[in-house]
Amino acid sequence: MQTFGFITHALDMNDVVRYEPRSAGKRIELVSKILEWMPAYKQSHITGIRSKTGEEIDGYFCACPFLPHQFTELPREQVYKKIIDAGKLAESLGAKIVGLGGFTSVVGDAGETISENLNIAVTSGNSYTIATALEGALEAAKTMDIHPEESSATVVGATGSIGRVCAQILSQKVDSLTITARSLSRLKNVAEMIYQFSGKRPNVTTDLHASLQGADIVITASSAGRGIIQPHFLKSGCVVCDVALPHDCSREIAEIRRDVLVIEGGLVEVPGKVDFRTNFGYPPGISLACMAETMILTLEKRFEHFSLGRRIEPEKVIEIQFLAQKHGFKLAGFRSFNTQITKEDIYKIKENVRALKKKQKISIGL
Ligand SMILES: NC(=O)c1ccc[n+]([C@@H]2O[C@H](COP(=O)([O-])OP(=O)(O)OC[C@H]3O[C@@H](n4cnc5c(N)ncnc54)[C@H](OP(=O)(O)O)[C@@H]3O)[C@@H](O)[C@H]2O)c1
Repeated sequence: MQTFGFITHALDMNDVVRYEPRSAGKRIELVSKILEWMPAYKQSHITGIRSKTGEEIDGYFCACPFLPHQFTELPREQVYKKIIDAGKLAESLGAKIVGLGGFTSVVGDAGETISENLNIAVTSGNSYTIATALEGALEAAKTMDIHPEESSATVVGATGSIGRVCAQILSQKVDSLTITARSLSRLKNVAEMIYQFSGKRPNVTTDLHASLQGADIVITASSAGRGIIQPHFLKSGCVVCDVALPHDCSREIAEIRRDVLVIEGGLVEVPGKVDFRTNFGYPPGISLACMAETMILTLEKRFEHFSLGRRIEPEKVIEIQFLAQKHGFKLAGFRSFNTQITKEDIYKIKENVRALKKKQKISIGL
């Protein structure tokens, strides 16, 4: 049986408490200090992954104990060392490929240095994350009666590894596209790449609020590490596919904006009876797309640096989507702010959109 490794880390204090209940009530500064001292460790043995083809694999979660802010704030060498240690641990457990979860693939050169220091293949999982983000966003748009070819879309974090390819592919499917991030010069470069790819010129802005005001479809994949999208930024009736971890959408959106559909991007049903032997916050059988990419490559015995660095090619996205289907991986149902979205929830959102429109018409005397 072939084996994979996947490097994890806690996304926030809720995650830390889930993994270590004794940390409940402790200050984040103290917890961060303890995490800083902790070495990489074996978190769990994953079993029960069974492809449609009958092939079975197993794997290990190897933890790299840092919180998201520590990946960007601590000295780069210190961060790389712990990620490499987690990768070496996976190697010693028999893994032939290791996936980089969360910020382990965001920091620095997006996995290139990590791969140079390991003897096994490394993948960020970003190709399958992109595939599922696009699939999820378009599926969600359909349920909200949005026709992509007539719609305006925005990609947040569009200069990033995930955001850029999402923007390239989405530009082919929507009427108009806006891309946003903080660096205008990088956005202009990406706009040129999108034009070369699809012949369509996107709007470019560093103003997040303005970029979202007219958007019917939003894919958000920033590495901000906090809820940068506020409730009043969003257009009534829009769909948002939030790929970022920690999420870009602030929690208040769930409470205040009952007229928008926010879904978590990159959630996948794993074929077989997978047992992760750890609770990372999702229902049984569900994994993140980046984890699933590592599993798919292991089932294919493709022990190569499939998605690495910030230059993911759209062809890779198509290839991994094909391989995912071959092995029986599929998009999990919609989830939003840690809860499953039902057909009734969607119906209520649409009702709220209609009610708001009616109110607006009355207030302007139509
Ligand atoms: N759901 C999943 O399965 C999955 C899998 C992999 C990764 N992820 C998550 O996806 C996100 C993106 O990953 P990536 O590898 O594409 O990261 P990346 O290559 O570092 O790109 C991050 C993007 O976010 C932008 N950004 C950063 N801070 C921002 C802010 N405050 N406001 C607006 N834009 C900002 C960056 O551009 P500027 O610096 O110019 O602003 C860049 O465009 C991360 O949150 C990661 O954890 C999720």
